[in-house]
Amino acid sequence: MMRTDLERAARSARGFMPHDEGLCLYQTVLEITVQGPIVEVGSYCGKSAIYMGAAAAETGSVVFTIDHHRGSEEMQEGWEHHDGEVVNRDTGRIDSLPALRRNLEETGLEGSVVPIVGDSRLVASHWETPISMVFIDGGHGPIPAHADYDDWASKITPGGFLAIHDVFPDPADGGRPPYEIFLRAVNEGDFEEHAAVGSLRVLRSSP
Ligand SMILES: C[S@@+](CC[C@H](N)C(=O)[O-])C[C@H]1O[C@@H](n2cnc3c(N)ncnc32)[C@H](O)[C@@H]1O
Repeated sequence: MMRTDLERAARSARGFMPHDEGLCLYQTVLEITVQGPIVEVGSYCGKSAIYMGAAAAETGSVVFTIDHHRGSEEMQEGWEHHDGEVVNRDTGRIDSLPALRRNLEETGLEGSVVPIVGDSRLVASHWETPISMVFIDGGHGPIPAHADYDDWASKITPGGFLAIHDVFPDPADGGRPPYEIFLRAVNEGDFEEHAAVGSLRVLRSSP
């Protein structure tokens, strides 16, 4: 069971992670059986990171959560997911890093969730440590979504997990790229579906 104070904090954090899907991320982290840290692409204000960090704190693992904190295309002004509260008043640019830091401080998860501020492609190009679980929830357009799959899925240790958010088999429900990379993982990669809750899909790589 997730600690009730952390569950409350995750539920109230600003972001894009329904509670049942967040609990699935929490449970998946508890089920990790291989070595290596966890990587999240797309921290935003840390909502999903609280779920994963709560479990990592229990197991002694660590979540590296990557974001440039400038928002995805669909989060810019005039787009569907824009939130003026996350705009820096001095620069006029999106900056979700302060909210992430505050959430990690308030939940006491700074020892279990480590923010990496930067572009996921750039970080991946320097990343060599095998990973026990990757959660892809960064840019949802075709180029960033496929790049995140190309860059990060191959770094998962055999037996580790790949989670993908906003997977919509029916185009009427949402954009295609997360579903496309889910299909790539199943068809081209060495992954099998492990869990599905809402639009979250969790796959496990062959041991
Ligand atoms: C859908 S939000 C993540 C939501 C978050 N997981 C939650 O639980 O609320 C996507 C995030 O990905 C980030 N992002 C988009 N493209 C990126 C890239 N190429 N590198 C790093 N971060 C990126 C955006 O800045 C945004 O904060």
